[in-house]
Amino acid sequence: MAQEAVLGHLEHNQEIADSGVFSQEKGISHDEIVNAIKSLNGFGLVIASDIKREKWLLSEEAQSYVKYGSAEVLLFEAVPAEGIAKAKLQEIVNSKLPVDLDDKAKSLIYDKGWAQAMKNKWIGLADSQVSRKVEHVEDKVKDLLIQIQNGEAVGAKDIDALKRRRLISLQIWKGFSVMKGPNYTTTRKKAATDLVRDHLQRDEWKDIEFKEYNFLAKGQPTEGGCLHPLYKVKQQIQMIFLQMGFEEMPTNNYVESSFWNFDALFQPQQHPARDSHDTFFLKVPSTTNILPEEYVERVKTVHESGGYGSRGYGYDWKREEANKNLLRTHTTAVSTRMLYALAQGPFTPKRYYSIDRVFRNEAVDRTHLAEFHQIEGLICDRGLSLGHLRGVLEDFFSRIGMSKLKFKPAYNPYTEPSMEIFSYHEGLKKWVEIGNSGMFRPEMLRPMGLPEDVQVIAWGLSLERPTMILYGIDNIRDLFGHKVDLSLTKRNPICRLGLN
Ligand code: PHE
Repeated sequence: MAQEAVLGHLEHNQEIADSGVFSQEKGISHDEIVNAIKSLNGFGLVIASDIKREKWLLSEEAQSYVKYGSAEVLLFEAVPAEGIAKAKLQEIVNSKLPVDLDDKAKSLIYDKGWAQAMKNKWIGLADSQVSRKVEHVEDKVKDLLIQIQNGEAVGAKDIDALKRRRLISLQIWKGFSVMKGPNYTTTRKKAATDLVRDHLQRDEWKDIEFKEYNFLAKGQPTEGGCLHPLYKVKQQIQMIFLQMGFEEMPTNNYVESSFWNFDALFQPQQHPARDSHDTFFLKVPSTTNILPEEYVERVKTVHESGGYGSRGYGYDWKREEANKNLLRTHTTAVSTRMLYALAQGPFTPKRYYSIDRVFRNEAVDRTHLAEFHQIEGLICDRGLSLGHLRGVLEDFFSRIGMSKLKFKPAYNPYTEPSMEIFSYHEGLKKWVEIGNSGMFRPEMLRPMGLPEDVQVIAWGLSLERPTMILYGIDNIRDLFGHKVDLSLTKRNPICRLGLN
């Protein structure tokens, strides 16, 4: 109906100058008219131009001033020429106001009137007596409000004063002016969307106008499973490792013994990370009962008195400590098992990786949870150096899209030298720590039985950190855990890495 009204009007008139006026003339709501104009404009039947108008609106209080006079004038007039006790003033103001106004509205008018009349120095207060300070006042505020209501122009200073008293506020009104468009017709033919049986039977198909296909329209959203961002990034990083010739390590055990998680890595038994404040220990079963005994002996010796050129730590190594079960704190426990297994046969160089969950007893905050996913890579070969480690890190991280790296000397009980890895974050314009790396110590590798000239270079990082950077998530609790919005997986885009 609104569309016909617009098209019909343009048949005999040059334009619709103002959609607001037009809607009033036709008795059709402005919203409806606007929708019709937008649709017609989209199909080129009309050409619409924006109109924007600013209009001052009177507050409820201001509307009451228009009716009864401004509060300050009401108050002034309530004060008789001879003066009055302040205690009686409200009563007199009330008596001048209509009876149907409630008490709250009346006392509001009284309070405002009092404050404004005092400010204007129209009245004065001495010894609880109120007296007039001027003979006569004019209700300028009321007059101004009436002018504004009538759409008459009012000076900027007055507008400002009324605005500050919250008597008026600005409203922006949007509408259109409309002219005939290139595709103008008086009535809009509804185009057919489909060719149907009737069109053929009645021979209508020859003349019928079909709606054009919109090839840019989005399809129905598909229902079905969605991958979590962590999983998508994991798959991509997995691809990078595979492209670089790495094999996956089996990480399907969250429970590990302290032996494989710490002792075999030459981590002393008093190390603070082995405290229950940092590590989750298991209550049931609290200990392990299968460990490779001969190897355990060699690990004990290297801790106590060293060997292979090392002096060891010089303390009493306790088997009970090594037996304690825990939730693995790093996947380096798995790397250790793999290297030990490798050492049992004739030596072959290997490239291993894993991406799986690890656990740490940490205070939860924006960037930490008590569990996360660790990405770990290692290369085991003869004659490897720190240069090889740097090279492989540059290669690996540039495939993730981090090609500006810096290394900082660090300490791990099981690597020497050790390096923290920093990457320059283009968005944050700063260096962020992304991982840890190093060359495994002889104290770790030699008791396994690996040949003396075999070195292992390795690195680890969290999967969460690059995922948060890639997906622009700044709170880890929005990514993982019970507070995650389930629609997250539906909304976020696919992840493509390692293709450059
Ligand atoms: N295990 C280390 C960590 O948890 C990562 C790492 C792996 C460091 C391999 C050096 C070598 O942070």
